[in-house]
Amino acid sequence: MNDTAIQDRVLIFDTTLRDGEQSPGATMSHNEKLEIAQLLDEMGVDIIEAGFPIASEGDFNAVSEIAARSQNAVICGLSRADNRDIDRCWEAVKHAKQPRIHTFIGTSPLHRAIPNLNQDEMVERIHDTVTHARNLCDNIQWSPMDATRTEDDYLCRVVEVAIKAGATTINIPDTVGYTAPRESAELIRMLLEKVPGADEIIFATHCHNDLGMATANSLAAVEAGARQVECTINGLGERAGNTALEEVVMALKVRNDIMPYRTDIDTTKIMNISRRVATVSGFQVQYNKAIVGKNAFAHESGIHQDGMLKNAETFEIMRPEDVGLSETNIVMGKHSGRAALRSKLKDLGYEMGDNQLKDVFVRFKALADRKKEVYDDDLLALMNDEGTNAANDRVQVKSLRVVCGTEGPQQADLTLTIDGVDHSVSATGDGPVDASFNAVKQLFPHSATLQLYNVHAVTEGTDAQATVSVRMEEAGKIVVGQSADTDTVVASARAYVNALNKLLVRREKTAPA
Ligand code: KIV
Ligand code: ZN
Repeated sequence: MNDTAIQDRVLIFDTTLRDGEQSPGATMSHNEKLEIAQLLDEMGVDIIEAGFPIASEGDFNAVSEIAARSQNAVICGLSRADNRDIDRCWEAVKHAKQPRIHTFIGTSPLHRAIPNLNQDEMVERIHDTVTHARNLCDNIQWSPMDATRTEDDYLCRVVEVAIKAGATTINIPDTVGYTAPRESAELIRMLLEKVPGADEIIFATHCHNDLGMATANSLAAVEAGARQVECTINGLGERAGNTALEEVVMALKVRNDIMPYRTDIDTTKIMNISRRVATVSGFQVQYNKAIVGKNAFAHESGIHQDGMLKNAETFEIMRPEDVGLSETNIVMGKHSGRAALRSKLKDLGYEMGDNQLKDVFVRFKALADRKKEVYDDDLLALMNDEGTNAANDRVQVKSLRVVCGTEGPQQADLTLTIDGVDHSVSATGDGPVDASFNAVKQLFPHSATLQLYNVHAVTEGTDAQATVSVRMEEAGKIVVGQSADTDTVVASARAYVNALNKLLVRREKTAPA
């Protein structure tokens, strides 16, 4: 590392939109990707890996637009060790103020066998592709995929070749979540010691969580000299996911005494982005997840509650406000006015113009009429509710009435507005949700299959809103629909229709892979 200022600074590389979105079912729409990228940029992420441009037309367009819009972050795209991939990546990221090309190849014996390259042939490929990338862009990241299962000598050799060919960041991925903290640190130390030129570049750590050690492995690598941590919001990612951004950042902040490294992340934005990623990906955050789980700052036992009332530090090592949880206990209700709603939403991270507020206020009033107390989580669910007919949705739920009880079959009387025309049907099913879904299928026949149906109570109490996520698949395309309502069956029907609308958009927009 030639810049001494970087010695105590850890760069945060977020790959929610690439490695995170790659996890089955976490597909995000174009606009959702733009929104998450903006939130990442605003929170101070140093590098955003915005996608894999050659993977699809949709990925290419998303990376290009994120690159053009981002204000602060370096925008990076992924590419395999192939010049056409790299060219496509460059075409997308070149619009950024600070573009980066990330290129990778699997270097472990298992991965070398797939393209059937021997060690020398692979070295040549690395040299050629990194050189090609460097001729396009002066910010190049190179990754030896499955580095933690690559022979040490060979790893040193390929890293040296990549540095000589012009890589400015070398990322060391624990692709299968196999390493452990001490080994993760030793690997970085070995590379720093043995590879000529290692002190001229930045080492990154990229860990997967298959054994639940991703964050620990990333922090161990930092202590050994890595200065870029690759992570995702909520730890989203394939299989058990990736290192979670919020865990790394808060660990560095809270334990700065033993890990004296800083990041530029505005931690008060963590909770908002965590909730947004959970909504758009359809992957709810587990209640006991560190930092962002619903219970991370909840105290149930009498001893804990008593201690908390006397001194919050007895059972909390960080303050809820540090991660953007508002401490105000103002509960909204049907008498709350527009100004109170605006101020409450601002506390929750939503700033909006008059027109948007007008629309949200109408929906808030409708909710407050049905629910005596509207909590922060209710408002967040309202803000994240996509299933309440957007004006340009082709299919909209106009009305739904269900008959249910101990004597089946249950029945749903549904009216959908399709392309502006109302259509009604009565359908039966095994329970009111099944009956409602059958009614949607009768009114709007489609071949998409339901992959996941998930109901989540937003707050406590029998009048709680339910957030429903519905994941559907059609011809390899996966979408997630979402809606919230105090009536679980209505939320379910709207979430289903929301997913259908997303499929319709994707049918129109997605070009052949
Ligand atoms: O896990 C991994 O190896 C990756 C690479 C593409 C960097 O995500
Ligand atoms: Zn990965």
